[in-house]
Amino acid sequence: MDKIKVGIIGFGTVGSGTYKVLTENFQEIKNKTGLSFQVNKIADLNKELVVEKIGNADLYTDNINEVIEYSDIVVELIGGTTIAREVVEKALTKKKHVVTANKALIALYGKDLFALAEKNNIALMYEAAVAGGIPIIKTIREGLVGNKISWVVGILNGTTNYILSEMKNNGLSFETALKQAQELGYAEADPTFDIEGIDAAHKITILASIVFGIPLNFSETFVEGIRSLDLADVSYAEELGYRIKLLGIAKNNNNKIEIRVHPTLIPSSRLIANVDGPMNAILVNGNMVGPTLYYGAGAGSEATASAVVADIVDIGRLIHQNVIPLIPNYGFQENSLTHKNIANISEITSGFYLRIPIRDSSGVLANITKFFASKNISIDAMTQKESKSSIDQKTDVLIVVKLAKESIIDEIIKDIQSKEFCLSKIIKIRLELLNK
Ligand code: HSE
Repeated sequence: MDKIKVGIIGFGTVGSGTYKVLTENFQEIKNKTGLSFQVNKIADLNKELVVEKIGNADLYTDNINEVIEYSDIVVELIGGTTIAREVVEKALTKKKHVVTANKALIALYGKDLFALAEKNNIALMYEAAVAGGIPIIKTIREGLVGNKISWVVGILNGTTNYILSEMKNNGLSFETALKQAQELGYAEADPTFDIEGIDAAHKITILASIVFGIPLNFSETFVEGIRSLDLADVSYAEELGYRIKLLGIAKNNNNKIEIRVHPTLIPSSRLIANVDGPMNAILVNGNMVGPTLYYGAGAGSEATASAVVADIVDIGRLIHQNVIPLIPNYGFQENSLTHKNIANISEITSGFYLRIPIRDSSGVLANITKFFASKNISIDAMTQKESKSSIDQKTDVLIVVKLAKESIIDEIIKDIQSKEFCLSKIIKIRLELLNK
């Protein structure tokens, strides 16, 4: 069979990794698939970069249209949502199969791009958009197809997982851990998307859509990052037997779908709680298989390229067999997609950790617990730290509630916050037991 022509647009970390995987593992891939994939054209703004990475300018072009014209598969690795979107739309319109690693593009514009791909009977694949090298899209859409999935939770951002690990293991403040992550090249110079949780939110939006068969809609995903996380809470969580992770959570709660990203306490005994450093992990709960856990590199040149190449190979097989895409974009048939209700964050039920900064005096604990009792909320654990200040008797009361509606917890917080003994802002961090 003729070689399958691959055009790469964007030759940064993942683009050059994709070239490397396709060339260095050319024979390995051929042994497995019987197919030959040839990088045909490479477009990037920086010609010198391409020459530096592959040793010559033979494949280089500054013309994106040329890549689209002369390729069977167009690989979009530019990032961002402006030019990348134009490129993908143009390629799909020209009936060229597309592979992208662009999570923002899929989370924000995937709905329309999927429709365009379907209209043109063309594959649009995005394995590398979620959790880099972990083949989680394929796992959910194919490996777990026999299951109804009730929830998926994931450590989907390596930068923040590195920061949280450093805070826990080495007692670093958030700012120091972030600086260290930047020095090691884990965090971008502008790490906003990582630390504000936006990157993880793009990824959980995509996972929620293929787990529940709901059209992509990023605007309904709740996002809270780790910027204001205090080292004190990381330490207190450990003392209580929990670990704080930035989790992406997609849950079907009695047909209300929760899609959220926020710092979360999880029991430290769970396997996923022990995923440290810049790694990713995803826990998927299927009604037949039970909980399954996937772990690996969520970023990096070759790891992400490994997922890009898996998509390229899948498309190569389709081209070879001359069939239309077998796996629907969402993993569900078009007529089975539903616009389920997405829960507002105030409607969710979850566990909660509260840290209440108080001035200690007799009756304060009794005063606090009565607010929970009045709303019928059971306190599962409560600790008062001994005050180290003989002047103002300042200390913290820690409370763990294993299940409550967020709006009720917010009412309790508001009541306690207004009391004279409450010295500063009450800290609320959500908690998930991940046990059913
Ligand atoms: N900034 C991302 C991370 C890269 O830290 O995980 C992969 O999406």
